[in-house]
Amino acid sequence: MRKSIVAGNWKMNTTFAEAKALITEIVSDLNNETTEIIVAPPFVNIEAVVKATSNSRIKVAAQNMHAATKGAYTGEVSGSMLKSIGVQHTILGHSERRGYFNETNALLKEKVNSALTQEMTIIFCFGEELEDRKSGNHFKVVQNQIEEALFHLGASSLDHIILAYEPVWAIGTGETASPEQAQEMHAFIRSLVANNYDSVTADKISILYGGSVKPTNAKELFSNPDVDGGLIGGASLKAEDFLTIVNAF
Ligand code: 13P
Repeated sequence: MRKSIVAGNWKMNTTFAEAKALITEIVSDLNNETTEIIVAPPFVNIEAVVKATSNSRIKVAAQNMHAATKGAYTGEVSGSMLKSIGVQHTILGHSERRGYFNETNALLKEKVNSALTQEMTIIFCFGEELEDRKSGNHFKVVQNQIEEALFHLGASSLDHIILAYEPVWAIGTGETASPEQAQEMHAFIRSLVANNYDSVTADKISILYGGSVKPTNAKELFSNPDVDGGLIGGASLKAEDFLTIVNAF
């Protein structure tokens, strides 16, 4: 059985006090024993969130990390630093990192290798721009993003990868991919994994959908056979909305 996962990407939101209040409410109101739950606070609040979740089953992810272990990279944070405060997960490849910070598939491959060396689990994001979809290139774009950053890995490394399809045109826009569009792309992604590895590996890997997931549309999206959960932005900043999504399977 594949894991059902809901991850909250807080992006560059929450002051220290807001992060503590949000995670405290999520921990105390959580009423779900099956969905895997991950939250990704900004770096400065991450240790407080690790502490606040230490007696719960909620996992904590970074939103990004540098490929090097340490060194002269002003402003950056490494996987070994994250591990040293108990962070086992990291998001990599978010479209905001690709778009605003010029992260390429080649750079992401290095980051993926580094995170795996640190024995971290990666939520690996990818997804097409609106123009790609309009021109019918969306499958090809997604295929390249996945192949170039991940398909050098051995099958056993894929146990430490969660895939997250986030069409850029659906992020923060209120425009969600339809359940049919999500299912179509997720089935395609799973077939890529099956073709490059094998069907056992493809059946095991969780593929999340991200892009304007809300309490009102989560159930319909998650009911698709190849949609194993969601990566949630805006709606993860309100405990009640996030927990409604956690319970939407
Ligand atoms: P929204 O849910 O705000 O559209 O953001 C999705 C996202 O980018 C999660 O990583």
